[in-house]
Amino acid sequence: MGRKLLLEHINVPGINTLKVYREKGGYKAVEKAIKTMSTDDLVEEVKKSGLRGRGGAGFPTGMKWSFLAKPEGVARYLVCNADESEPGTFKDRYLMTHIPHALIEGMIVSSFALGANTSYIYVRGEMMPQIRILEKAIAEAKEAGFLGKNILGSGYDLELYVQPGGGAYICGEETALLESLEGKRGNPRIKPPFPAIAGLYGCPTVVNNVESIAAVVPIVNMGGEEYAKIGIGRSTGTKLISASGNINKPGVYEIELGITVEDFIYSDEYCGGIANGKRLKAVVAGGSSVPILPANLIVNLANGEKRLMTYESLSEGGFATGTMLGSGGFVVLDEDQSIVRNTWNFARFYSHESCGQCSPCREGTGWMEKVLHRLVNGKGKMTDMDLLVDVSKKIEGNTICPLGDAAAWPVASAIRHFRDEFEWYVNNPELSQKQNYGLAHY
Ligand code: NAI
Ligand code: SF4
Repeated sequence: MGRKLLLEHINVPGINTLKVYREKGGYKAVEKAIKTMSTDDLVEEVKKSGLRGRGGAGFPTGMKWSFLAKPEGVARYLVCNADESEPGTFKDRYLMTHIPHALIEGMIVSSFALGANTSYIYVRGEMMPQIRILEKAIAEAKEAGFLGKNILGSGYDLELYVQPGGGAYICGEETALLESLEGKRGNPRIKPPFPAIAGLYGCPTVVNNVESIAAVVPIVNMGGEEYAKIGIGRSTGTKLISASGNINKPGVYEIELGITVEDFIYSDEYCGGIANGKRLKAVVAGGSSVPILPANLIVNLANGEKRLMTYESLSEGGFATGTMLGSGGFVVLDEDQSIVRNTWNFARFYSHESCGQCSPCREGTGWMEKVLHRLVNGKGKMTDMDLLVDVSKKIEGNTICPLGDAAAWPVASAIRHFRDEFEWYVNNPELSQKQNYGLAHY
């Protein structure tokens, strides 16, 4: 059994309450941090842990914290990005639903470390139950003296607010989120300046994902060095993976980084194998924003080794043969699934969610969606694949925020690995309109 740091007590009845959470050791990290550690110590522990941003980008959390500007007399903010909207990703929602105090405790410790006296949890607007759960947990923590004025008699004050999100995928992009939190339309800002320098209301701000903030609790409890012993290389600690698609046991799993992708898919501890005895066709390993991986690249890398669930191993081979760990939204496709339809579905999503500020993304996502739509409807042309690759290249790297790249990569990788399937759609216009086209129909 892999070690569990975040979900260890997930099945304990009442773990969503302060009482039971504390009985299981909850809020010890707040006491340790506020009573015995300096803010510099805390940043150092997070650096030593090697924790990398769990929202998708994998940027080192300790480094991000150390970038936070500290001008005299200017407020600093911690903002938790709980706008989880990446297709295939539902781990933050799971954590907030079942163990809300893990996030609240992480917010208190992290806010203290950063010198923030006002912090926000920006929750995806559709997640009303989770918003209520968090508000209740905040009230409990405040009642117990972990929030508000003079926390645990230390002289440190913290107010924590939950903000319902604006209802758009793009509001999860950190600068769009800050715009939205300020009450404006959620349009991404040009970076730099990064939020660490000029974030909420122009003040230095750290924006961290739910899981990253919750991970600070075990890091403080066990020490950064101990945390870094879990995992492999620069992929330290545990990671929540949202597993879905054609598997026997969909759900949220906490893995030690470094297990093989094969183990994750086939072992009973995690996905339990492909449903209905089918063959594996491909995996979308890190949410819809990453390149798709065909089955042969999951099990055997060019060097014959098995691919691991780590930031490095999943991206080995670059975009030619690799992908990314991303948000940990792990979608498994069996042999009956249509890569072309799947790609169109993602393209439709990005076209709808583009904020429209930059033309390569606004126009390009729309074009990709239209071309893919005609392909799945039996009206495609043999030149469409090159056209799609061309449009994707024009988007990639030419936009304000990562949504453009996120839209381009799945299309380009699907054509790279499954061009024959796209061609089949052109050659079989009547058959191509069947929903369940897949490898089995070759
Ligand atoms: P990014 O790589 O641009 O930035 C990572 C973080 O590091 C940001 O907080 C940024 O401010 C900070 N940073 C980078 N360089 C810095 C510097 N020089 N100084 C100070 N701070 C610096 O990526 P971003 O935009 O944060 O995330 C993109 C990823 O988000 C995508 O790869 C995707 O996987 C993921 N994503 C996740 C979603 C979810 O629902 N979990 C939804 C959509 C995307
Ligand atoms: Fe908006 Fe797309 Fe440009 Fe991002 S890349 S700012 S979503 S138009």
